[in-house]
Amino acid sequence: MRIIAPSMLSADFGHLADAVEMVNRSDADWFHLDIMDGLFVPNISFGFPVVKSIAAAARKPMDAHLMIVDPDRYVSRFADLGVQWLSVHYEACTHLHRTLQNIRACGMKAGVAINPHTPVALLKDVLCEADFALVMSVNPGFGGQSFIARSVDKVRELRAMIDKEGYDCLIEIDGGVGTSNVDMLAEAGVDAFVAGSSVFGAPDPMKAIAALKGVR
Ligand code: DX5
Ligand code: ZN
Repeated sequence: MRIIAPSMLSADFGHLADAVEMVNRSDADWFHLDIMDGLFVPNISFGFPVVKSIAAAARKPMDAHLMIVDPDRYVSRFADLGVQWLSVHYEACTHLHRTLQNIRACGMKAGVAINPHTPVALLKDVLCEADFALVMSVNPGFGGQSFIARSVDKVRELRAMIDKEGYDCLIEIDGGVGTSNVDMLAEAGVDAFVAGSSVFGAPDPMKAIAALKGVR
């Protein structure tokens, strides 16, 4: 069954509690939380106080996507806030293998995210330490961008790598995902789908989530 993870970055922060409650009541599976530091990406999103508020109201697992340099500094803080799925960027970690081990040691599922320019092949020696791999299908930093078509081939290649080695590693896709490409991406091997603008920009976000999930 598809995992649907609405990206709270696209929610109306003036009514955040309503957005959290909508996701709680919907067919969604996770809360996707985009953490940006203004260095790794050219944008700043939100930090611990907001994650804490979401955590207090969320009745589904939180999936935090760290778009920050040197993420090791904050891994345990996210665990303390109740985050269950934590991804760091391949491009932001000098000792990625150790960082993934740290995430697991803190009791969370460890994810490695790759930018559109990063080849899937570079994950070969870290997939054994990862519970999920996040393929960025837009350049990170902003919601509402167009899906990069080449990402589908990256998903297929990653699926083949994971299956060949028999790893227990999910594939998550993030950026420009909506009803027009969700089926094709599922067929290519994606397990978890992040969706920001296609959910929160829809006239009925709960219906949009149901459509992505395939329960219509
Ligand atoms: C982009 C973030 C995404 C983003 C997705 O840097 O990682 O999670 O919020 O938004 P949409 O679905 O609008 O592309
Ligand atoms: Zn994200």
